[in-house]
Amino acid sequence: MDSFKSFFSQKIPLARPEVEKMLPYSAPLEERRELLRLDFNENTVGPSPKVFNAIQEITREQISIYPEYNGLQKAVIKNLTSTGLKNPLMPLQVGLFNGVDSAIHSIFQAYGDRGQKLLTTNPTFGYYYPCASMQGMEIIQIPYKGNKFLFPFNEISNSLTTLKPKILIICNPNNPTGTNLSAEKILVLAKKSPETLVVIDELYEAFLGDSVLPIVDFNETPNLVVLRSLSKTSGLAGLRIGFALGHSEVINRLNRITGPYDVNSFAVVAAFAALEDQKYIDNYVAEVLKAREWLQQQLLRTPVKYHIEAGNYFLLWPKNHDASSIELSLKSVGILVRNMQGKALINGSLRVSIGTLSQMKRFWKEYMIIEEITSSN
Ligand SMILES: Cc1ncc(COP(=O)(O)O)c(C=O)c1O
Repeated sequence: MDSFKSFFSQKIPLARPEVEKMLPYSAPLEERRELLRLDFNENTVGPSPKVFNAIQEITREQISIYPEYNGLQKAVIKNLTSTGLKNPLMPLQVGLFNGVDSAIHSIFQAYGDRGQKLLTTNPTFGYYYPCASMQGMEIIQIPYKGNKFLFPFNEISNSLTTLKPKILIICNPNNPTGTNLSAEKILVLAKKSPETLVVIDELYEAFLGDSVLPIVDFNETPNLVVLRSLSKTSGLAGLRIGFALGHSEVINRLNRITGPYDVNSFAVVAAFAALEDQKYIDNYVAEVLKAREWLQQQLLRTPVKYHIEAGNYFLLWPKNHDASSIELSLKSVGILVRNMQGKALINGSLRVSIGTLSQMKRFWKEYMIIEEITSSN
């Protein structure tokens, strides 16, 4: 008993005041294998077989030495060039990160200081907030507009002028609402606020088909940074690799934050193979778009509230039960979805990732049974 007491009376070293106020970012990541995972917007079928083969060929020697990154930036550029960039990128304009999460973290560490402002939208991807909070930044969130979650362009534009935020981050298309802003409008925002770092998180760009990369010239707009990842389309979420693209001087500053070996050898090998196999990615994206179209048709004929736009996900407000009980019922039949409980504007909804057509047919069948609804024809 005494040792129990003394354990709790011991003083632990306190972290920085900003960190003391935070809670760890937690996501329900455990025990998801073997289930139909429609909860994290991942690729639901896995990476290209070429990725899998490349990883199996990794030698014992490769495992025992620190990773080599030679040529990876060039491979990223080659892959992006196939999407028609206006101004070709140089390798120094490509930052390699242990997932886009790590790029986001580096951006805030490099650019976000105590008392400065982060401007973003609401609701949006959750990891921006802890990154801003740990730097002691003030977070200004502008809500999406109306029941179609339109982009608050005028409000963001005015806030850039009046608040002079250090960082503006836009998730495009937005997770979880699917809202998107045209590449031209993104450039307008970036050009009018040269002292703000404008970060465009393009994680789900492939499911939208519109990116700012083909039209940006980072010499003209050096305050713009674009984030891309191999997690969602290429199916490499478990290996962790993502990229930041921008002016070489900005990328250089982000690189000052990362450790020298932060991206591991498995991720590097997988990335080379995934970037080479664009056909596999295109086929997967086409399959998801087909499934999204099919779902849209079903939703139109059903008396449930929903919002389906860009991205490999959509929002669903259950009709006859609350979101938590539908989430549990779906789990009991082997399907995971994400509860948006507590999120501004979308409380009470479920975010459902979109996988293949047959996976979505399975989801839809189970959902209709649980909700006891039938479609109108
Ligand atoms: C909008 C957005 N940005 C970044 C990430 C993290 O991406 P990565 O797996 O590359 O770290 C996610 C993951 O869900 C996301 O939805």
